[in-house]
Amino acid sequence: MKKAKITLQRKRLNNEQIGCYFSDEDNYLRNMSTVLSKEQLRGIANEYGTPVYVYHAEKITGQYQKLQQAFRQTNTRFFYACKALTNINILRHIHSLGCHIDCSSINEVHLALRAGFEKENILYTSNGIAFSEIEEAVSLGVNVNIDSLSNLEKFGKKYGHSYPAGIRLRPNIMAGGHLKISTGHEKSKFGIPIEQLDKILALVDQYHLHICGLHVHTGSEIKDVAVFMQVADIFFDLVPYFKELQFLDLGGGFKVPYHEQETGTDMPLLGQKLAEVIQKLKDTYHRDFQAWFEPGKYLVSECGYFITEVTVLKQSSSTTFAGVNSGFNHLIRPMFYEAYHRIENISNPNAPKQPYTVTGNICETDTFATDRLINQIREGDLLVFYNAGAYGFEMGSNYNSRFKPAQVLVKDGRAQLIGRRDVFEDLLRNQVEP
Ligand code: LLP
Repeated sequence: MKKAKITLQRKRLNNEQIGCYFSDEDNYLRNMSTVLSKEQLRGIANEYGTPVYVYHAEKITGQYQKLQQAFRQTNTRFFYACKALTNINILRHIHSLGCHIDCSSINEVHLALRAGFEKENILYTSNGIAFSEIEEAVSLGVNVNIDSLSNLEKFGKKYGHSYPAGIRLRPNIMAGGHLKISTGHEKSKFGIPIEQLDKILALVDQYHLHICGLHVHTGSEIKDVAVFMQVADIFFDLVPYFKELQFLDLGGGFKVPYHEQETGTDMPLLGQKLAEVIQKLKDTYHRDFQAWFEPGKYLVSECGYFITEVTVLKQSSSTTFAGVNSGFNHLIRPMFYEAYHRIENISNPNAPKQPYTVTGNICETDTFATDRLINQIREGDLLVFYNAGAYGFEMGSNYNSRFKPAQVLVKDGRAQLIGRRDVFEDLLRNQVEP
C-alpha cells in the first residue's frame, strides 16, 4: 500500500484575522441590502405577539444569489446546512432557489425529502452516528459523508464499491469564531484525523470503496479566506490517492457580520481563489472537480429578526437591567458562544442612547448583552435582536416550561405565520401519565 505523506497544517487565528472593520454603522447598514423596517417589525409584533421570530425570504434569495455570483467561474454546488433553521417553509423557499441541502441527522434528511429536495441533491454529513442511520440514508438514495474509520469499515463490508461515499476529514486546523464552533482542530471529534490516511486507504483497498468526495468543515464564522485555501491545499495533496473523486467539499462556515463594525468572509475573493485551485488541479492531475459548500449562517442568519418585549426595568447601582419576555430558551447564542447580536429598541428609536444590560426571564444567568447602548427603554417597548435566523429558534427549548416563540415569514411583501407559538398542551405532549 502507498505510504501517505501529508503535511499537517495548523493555524491559530488572531483577532485581526477574524474581524476586519467598517468605518461606521451607516456603512454596515447600507451593506445589508434587504432589510425589514422597524415599522414592518412593529406591525408583525402587534399582529402575532411576542416573542416572535421573523424571517425575510428575499434576504435568503439575495444571499444565495451572492454565492452564485461569487463562484460563477467554477462548477460549484451549494448545500444549505439546514441545522441552522429547519422550518419546512424555509426549506421549501431554499429549494425553490435551486439550492441543495446538507443534513446532520436522518430526521433532517426526512425533512428535506418532505420539503421536496430530490435525493441526489441531499447530502448527509454525519458525525458520531450509529451505522444504522447511514444504512437508512443509503436506502433513501442520498449522498453520504462518512466521518469515522469504524463506519467506513462497516460501509465497506456492506456496500463495497456499489454505493459512492464521501469521507469527512479532520484537517487539524484551528479556525472559527469561537472554540465551541471550531470543528477542524486536533482535539475536535469531527471527521477522520488526517494523520490516519493510511488506515483510510487500507479500507478503501480492502473493500474497493467508491470514494467520490472529500469533505472538510473547519468551523463556523470563518472570516479568513486563507483557511479555505489551507483546506484546498490538503485536498490538493490527497487527490492522487483517490482515483474516483468527483467533488471536494469545503463545508460551510462563511462569516456573516453580526457586529456593526464587522464584515463577513470576502466571497468574491474566495470564489477567485477557488477557481485558481480548481484550475491548478486540472493542470497538475488532468482531472476536473466539482466544489461543494454547505453554508448555513450565510444563507439564513441575516434574514432573521427576533422580537421581544421589555417586561421589567430594574435599576441597580452599576447598570439598568432591561428584562425581556425571552431568555436562552429562545436565543442561546449570546450565552453559549458569547455571541454578539445587535439589539434595537424599535418602539423608541429616536430617544437618546443609554447603557442597558439586557436579560431574560429564565432562572439562570441569561444575559443577552451587558451595558449595551440602546435608545431609552420603557417597559412594554419592543427590542429586536438582529441576525437571529441561524441557530436561533433552532436551538430553542422549553426550559422553565416556557413556550417556544411563533415564527413568521415575510415573502413578496406579505407576512405569514409559519410556526405557531406553543400552547400549554405542547408542554405535556410527550409526557405519559400512567
Ligand atoms: N457543514 C457542517 C458539516 C457543519 O457542521 C456546519 C455547522 C455547517 C456546514 C454550517 O456552518 P455555518 O455555515 O452555519 O457556519 N450553533 C453555532 C454554529 C454551529 C455550527 C455547527 N455546524 C452558532 O450558533 O454559531
